[in-house]
Amino acid sequence: MKRVNVGIIGFGTVGSGTVQILTENRDLITDRAGSEIVIRKIADLDLRSDRGIPVDRSLLTSNALEVIDDPEVHIVVELIGGTDQAKTYILRAMEKGKHVVTANKALLAEHGKDIYSAAEKHGVTLAFEASVGGGIPIIKAMREGLSANHIKTIMGILNGTSNYILTQMTQKGIPYGEAVDETIKLGYAEDPPTLDVNGTDAAHKLAILVSIAFGAPVPFGSIHREGIDRLTPDDIRFAGEFGYCIKLLAIARNVGDKVEARVHPAMIPLGHIMANVSGVYNAIYVEGDFVGPNLYYGLGAGKKPTGSAVVSDLIHLARQLRNGTKKLIPPLAHVRSEARAIPIRPMDELRTSYYFRFSAIDRPGVLSRISGVLGDHGISIYSVIQKGRKVNGSVPVVMLTHEAVESSVLKALDRMDRLEVLTDKTMVIRVEGT
Ligand code: HSE
Repeated sequence: MKRVNVGIIGFGTVGSGTVQILTENRDLITDRAGSEIVIRKIADLDLRSDRGIPVDRSLLTSNALEVIDDPEVHIVVELIGGTDQAKTYILRAMEKGKHVVTANKALLAEHGKDIYSAAEKHGVTLAFEASVGGGIPIIKAMREGLSANHIKTIMGILNGTSNYILTQMTQKGIPYGEAVDETIKLGYAEDPPTLDVNGTDAAHKLAILVSIAFGAPVPFGSIHREGIDRLTPDDIRFAGEFGYCIKLLAIARNVGDKVEARVHPAMIPLGHIMANVSGVYNAIYVEGDFVGPNLYYGLGAGKKPTGSAVVSDLIHLARQLRNGTKKLIPPLAHVRSEARAIPIRPMDELRTSYYFRFSAIDRPGVLSRISGVLGDHGISIYSVIQKGRKVNGSVPVVMLTHEAVESSVLKALDRMDRLEVLTDKTMVIRVEGT
């Protein structure tokens, strides 16, 4: 095949990055793909806005079906996001025997089963490098480079917006709301950045990585999710005094017959390999049984990095088509992906260390009341800090614990919240990498 025709649905940020790379790096891409990758049609509801790149306007249409139903289009690139319309378009394209490239993490995380089985049924390739980590080639690493390994651990900073907000809070000591406003002003966050800050976006990406690692879609609702909105500059400062920083982490671990999968703010030691992943950067740590630890780092969002990921999928597909192969790698890189479901370990079975910040009345005996409750639940204290001025008559008492079971921590906190010597809900942050 000398020419591979591509139809793009969605001409927003990622769509225009994709067109820009295909145009500016055309010769290189042709050389690498072995065929010319030609943009045959681009569909978007907005046909007027200037995308800042030269584009032949005769390629534009407001009707996505013109792209999907065009018999000359070999590959449909879905870049509209959202789940309903995008799913309809992708399934229709697959029914027509077209390969699909998508950046749509929400769709894959929440409806992946239908999409993966449609790709299998119609014998087409589904490529989704841009769905996780922007320009970081983590999907190809997981589907190909690490395919000889049992995956033991995945630990990711998978959301650039929340990482930027936390970096601002850490470096400037400013409160969450102020850091969010600043991030929106700089264009690094949507207004409001709900799915970024509440852990949903990172959980979507984690669901995709876990599905590839273990070869079956994950029930998205079973991934534990917490956001960064309750963190205060005090928590970040106390974390620093203990020798830690706070990151929104997406963590998955093979724990025998189950998989742990969770997204929440976590304290990691300042010397941890992920501690210096700052600003809008993403990083993914993956550990395999034979390869050992691998670390991937780069820009997790933006027009050029994400466009780079989309075009890498197009090159892969062009190579495949050139060799007359319709399908090379199953969506989740396991041929039996339908056969198994991934059991996610309930969160209350988690065993880790914890940070607690109590708001306590400053009077004799308070510390012993708190440590008494912890002791009753088998939670052992590792370190305590109590200093700082009173806020509304209370002082922060901050503790790090040894490893404890989450169900015991929840029970202890429930009792703690009813102690009259505590004036506010206790802040809890899990500690990783000790
Ligand atoms: N909104 C995402 C982030 C980028 O902030 O990382 C797209 O997945």
